Amino acid sequence: MAGKISVIGPGTMGSGIAQSFLQAGYSVVVVGRSDESIKKGAERIGASMDKAIKKGAMSEQDKQKLLSMLKLTTDYSEISGSSAIIEAVAEELDEKTGVLKQIEKFSGQAIIATNTSSIPIKKMASALSDPSKFLGMHFFNPVPVMKPVEIVVAESTSEDAAAMAISLAKACGKVPIRVKDYPGFVANSVLMPMLNEAALLLEKGVADREGIDTIVKLGLNHPMGPLELADFIGLDVCKDIMEAIYNETGDEKYKPAKLISEKVSQGKLGRKSKEGFYEYK
Ligand code: 3HC
Repeated sequence: MAGKISVIGPGTMGSGIAQSFLQAGYSVVVVGRSDESIKKGAERIGASMDKAIKKGAMSEQDKQKLLSMLKLTTDYSEISGSSAIIEAVAEELDEKTGVLKQIEKFSGQAIIATNTSSIPIKKMASALSDPSKFLGMHFFNPVPVMKPVEIVVAESTSEDAAAMAISLAKACGKVPIRVKDYPGFVANSVLMPMLNEAALLLEKGVADREGIDTIVKLGLNHPMGPLELADFIGLDVCKDIMEAIYNETGDEKYKPAKLISEKVSQGKLGRKSKEGFYEYK
């Protein structure tokens, strides 16, 4: 059922979503806010495809074919005629609602999805004149590799829109799971207290960073330890998600550990800034 998909925001998540739909045979439009941002997005997608080639998941020929189906632009009118438009811009309510209003001018029959990890769908839906076509599609990082997509169905979302999102996620090889519009949905409700607890244990000196990560990796069979994973996600992103859930629920387990807040204020954001709980080259 390939067709056209649009993604707003060429960051890590948007680029990964674009790649996943390209690999499933869709033509993909990615909208960025500046020439600089779309240049960086193109580099990100190219680098991720090179990684797939290195891992044997893609050939150089596939890469060139997929890139010919991709259009990066700053012009929102290019999204017209899409089956779905997926918003993946910064995790800020005002930024997202501004983008949603722009999307709606050209969305036609398309469903509109947000890849938010923590902002309630209900809060964003009010920016749209027709919120029935709007819902959450929460992908996981790295998107081309990770299977699940939380399909976040708000009270205002129509059953047709939910069914469309589920079938699109399946069409790009993902496993869609329907969830309610609950703070943190399922994944981050479960994950964030674990990452926070690991930071608290480090703060208390219960074990060193390698010790904590090794116990979780080997003892609980996780591919990455919690501190390594927090660096991978970005400590600023983790903090924002925890605060968003804490503000909605008042539940202390989501209050970011002092160590996480300190690192964020020092600009130690994890892999992307070359230092977080660990140092990177
Ligand atoms: N594009 C396409 N395919 C790729 C690829 C790419 N860029 N990179 C790898 N692949 C393919 C490989 O070929 C391989 O395919 P195969 O299984 O058919 O052989 C598959 O993807 C997996 O690759 P690898 O096994 O080589 O990957 P690694 O062993 O290097 O593992 C990892 C890397 C998948 C990142 C693993 O360490 C992991 O799972 N870490 C945990 C990640 C995690 O928890 N993510 C969720 C974060 S939470 C989140 O995102 C929510 C947000 O709201 C915070």
